[in-house]
Amino acid sequence: MILLHVFAALVVFRVSSAFGLDLNSSLGTIISQFLSPGLPLTPQVLQTFTQPISVDLIRNTDIIRNGSSLILNGERWTTSGANVYWLGLDENVIPPPGQPFYAPFNASYPTFGRITEIMNTLQIMGARAIRGHTLGISVGNPLSVMPELGVVNEEAFTTMDWAIYQARQHGLRIFAPLVDNYDYYHGGKYTFLRWAGFNLTGSDSTNPEVMQFYTNQTIIDDFKYYIKVILTRTNQFTGLTYAEDPTIFAYETGNELGGPVFGDMWVPVEWTEQIASYIKELAPNKLVIDGTYGVNTTHLSISTIDIFSDHFYPPNITKLENDISLVQSANKVYIAGEYDWTGNVPSAASLPEFFSSIEASPVVGGDLFWSLFMHDVPDCTIYVNHTDGETLQYGNPANTAQTNVQIIDIRQHLFAMKGQNVSTYLPAVSCPGYEAEYTYW
Ligand SMILES: *[C@@H]1O[C@H](CO)[C@@H](O)[C@H](O)[C@H]1NC(C)=O
Ligand SMILES: *[C@@H]1O[C@H](CO)[C@@H](O)[C@H](O)[C@H]1NC(C)=O
Ligand SMILES: *[C@@H]1O[C@H](CO)[C@@H](O)[C@H](O)[C@H]1NC(C)=O
Ligand SMILES: *[C@@H]1O[C@H](CO)[C@@H](O)[C@H](O)[C@H]1NC(C)=O
Ligand SMILES: *[C@@H]1O[C@H](CO)[C@@H](O)[C@H](O)[C@H]1NC(C)=O
Ligand SMILES: *[C@@H]1O[C@H](CO)[C@@H](O)[C@H](O)[C@H]1NC(C)=O
Ligand SMILES: *[C@@H]1O[C@H](CO)[C@@H](O)[C@H](O)[C@H]1NC(C)=O
Ligand SMILES: *[C@@H]1O[C@H](CO)[C@@H](O)[C@H](O)[C@H]1NC(C)=O
Ligand SMILES: *[C@@H]1O[C@H](CO)[C@@H](O)[C@H](O)[C@H]1NC(C)=O
Repeated sequence: MILLHVFAALVVFRVSSAFGLDLNSSLGTIISQFLSPGLPLTPQVLQTFTQPISVDLIRNTDIIRNGSSLILNGERWTTSGANVYWLGLDENVIPPPGQPFYAPFNASYPTFGRITEIMNTLQIMGARAIRGHTLGISVGNPLSVMPELGVVNEEAFTTMDWAIYQARQHGLRIFAPLVDNYDYYHGGKYTFLRWAGFNLTGSDSTNPEVMQFYTNQTIIDDFKYYIKVILTRTNQFTGLTYAEDPTIFAYETGNELGGPVFGDMWVPVEWTEQIASYIKELAPNKLVIDGTYGVNTTHLSISTIDIFSDHFYPPNITKLENDISLVQSANKVYIAGEYDWTGNVPSAASLPEFFSSIEASPVVGGDLFWSLFMHDVPDCTIYVNHTDGETLQYGNPANTAQTNVQIIDIRQHLFAMKGQNVSTYLPAVSCPGYEAEYTYW
């Protein structure tokens, strides 16, 4: 009942105070108690209250961790959905002439329409969350947030701002890694190493000097400066900093981090502690995910880490159960941050097997398939394809029957994670979607 009062009052409030927002007014006090501590009452935040109120209270509420559960508004919540790594900066579309483009990496900004279509698609698929690499990692090329050490390219924030705003509008949450273990187009640990004078590329992954990324305080401070630039960014569409906006519920210390041997989980405890504490210092309401590739038992006691994760190429129940028991012993949350959804590896667990283990464990706080692409909006006749063979294109008429069975399994699982049953029907997603009429790059 109180929610309806707030809603009615807000309509009046919006009319009477198009400009000044007085948190001291009785109304401001009422609204504020529903918001996360410290969340400013910007016009954009208030505007969301004019939409169905239950959704809007939820949008403005932080996800918290209680032991091994993620909680939203007193109820268990799970970060289930998709990896959409290209929302800030893409590498799969050659833009029209004159648009920002960095040819050596085929890097370009996705259109607003592409970003919005992803949000509509994830809604229809039953997802709650997105893992978005380029919403956190953006260093080392002219289209990056930080093309050179200490140089900030404001233009690169536009797609990130839009993706976060669109996720907010669609009731989805986001988390993002802040650095990559690899030397991809969006940058990563090698970018920071090169900035500090270590002449290393992805081909030097076994060189012991890669550990300097975690041990050299000059490099750690460079990385912390970059983290500060990201977390203090004020979103032009919401008026909230990334640190303030509950839409971004967590940051991950990195993607698939390790040392000189692939999968060695050699990420120093001290580094993880320092980075996790810094994230919480700048953004006290964020959860922090350990970005080590796999669960390193020496990290389980780090108090500022909320969530541990692993990736599944392919899905593997033994590995999943081993991880779960480790993380359960630490009373923390576990997520399957990436998994191959295709079913193309014969020795793999099937999706229904994998999903039933996930759904059965109270320690698993979610899972995200690798990876989602949709149309080349505004061209709704072409689906964008990535070259790793794991591109999921929901609703593509060219999908095989086998592909659609996998997609149906994923959709039923995503709804099951929300306690809902859906049939095998795959509803269509419109293209262009709502709000796709905004400016294109
Ligand atoms: C809000 O209330 C406090 C305490 O009553 C007062 O000191 C402050 O000036 C008020 N702020 C505004 C903007 O009215
Ligand atoms: C956290 O979980 C414990 C055990 O399930 C429960 O007793 C407690 O009320 C929860 N606390 C919050 C803040 O949800
Ligand atoms: C860029 O895209 C073109 C066309 O798809 C492709 O031929 C080329 O190899 C790509 N370049 C890079 C660096 O990926
Ligand atoms: C750390 O990196 C800095 C900057 O490149 C370099 O001057 C310094 O020698 C490095 N420290 C160690 C212990 O290698
Ligand atoms: C960096 O390493 C590459 C390959 O080993 C070498 O060709 C290049 O000269 C080096 N650059 C510098 C500045 O040392
Ligand atoms: C885990 O982290 C510790 C501390 O950095 C490191 O010594 C160890 O090599 C890592 N890997 C494993 C498998 O424990
Ligand atoms: C599954 O994971 C276990 C434990 O990590 C490993 O021993 C096994 O080889 C994996 N199975 C497959 C088919 O990859
Ligand atoms: C998408 O890319 C994959 C991997 O490169 C390729 O096998 C597949 O044929 C491509 N699909 C289309 C429709 O181009
Ligand atoms: C979903 O369907 C299954 C099997 O029909 C049933 O056991 C279960 O209770 C249903 N769950 C919900 C949330 O409706």
